[in-house]
Amino acid sequence: MLKSKKLLLFLSVSCLLEADNASSLLFNGNCLTCHHETKTVSAPSMVELRSRYLSVFSKKEDFVNYMSAWVEHPNAKTSIMQDAIKKHALMPDLGFDKEVLRDISTYIYETDFKKRGGLY
Ligand code: HEC
Repeated sequence: MLKSKKLLLFLSVSCLLEADNASSLLFNGNCLTCHHETKTVSAPSMVELRSRYLSVFSKKEDFVNYMSAWVEHPNAKTSIMQDAIKKHALMPDLGFDKEVLRDISTYIYETDFKKRGGLY
């Protein structure tokens, strides 16, 4: 009895980890080509982007709703980073799926890119 409970706990923990890894892969595959983690090259870095969004949307729900809707159809009028548009031009509409963008935005909200120690 005790053993099966432990197994269940283990299974749910590994599911959580997998969900997190999936969002991380989606993010890495779709966004990192332009948005490096700490360096601003052809687009604002993730550190900059995340802190700008956090300063406007401190609640996770607002952050995720706004970011996923914006990235689905980038629009200069609703951008909160007008200076970035002037510098790099508007982000292209890349036809991402809304649900995928919600996962990616949640991942961005939860990730401290300064501490991630990635390759970029
Ligand atoms: C082809 C290059 C490219 C890719 C790929 C890309 N971006 Fe961008 N993105 C940009 C550029 C350039 C800007 C800066 C100009 C702007 O804000 O439109 C930007 C700006 C943004 C902004 C700021 C929005 C604002 O308020 O102005 C967000 C959020 C964002 N990107 C999220 C993402 C996410 C999430 C992904 C992956 C799903 C992604 N981007 C993939 C080029 C890209």
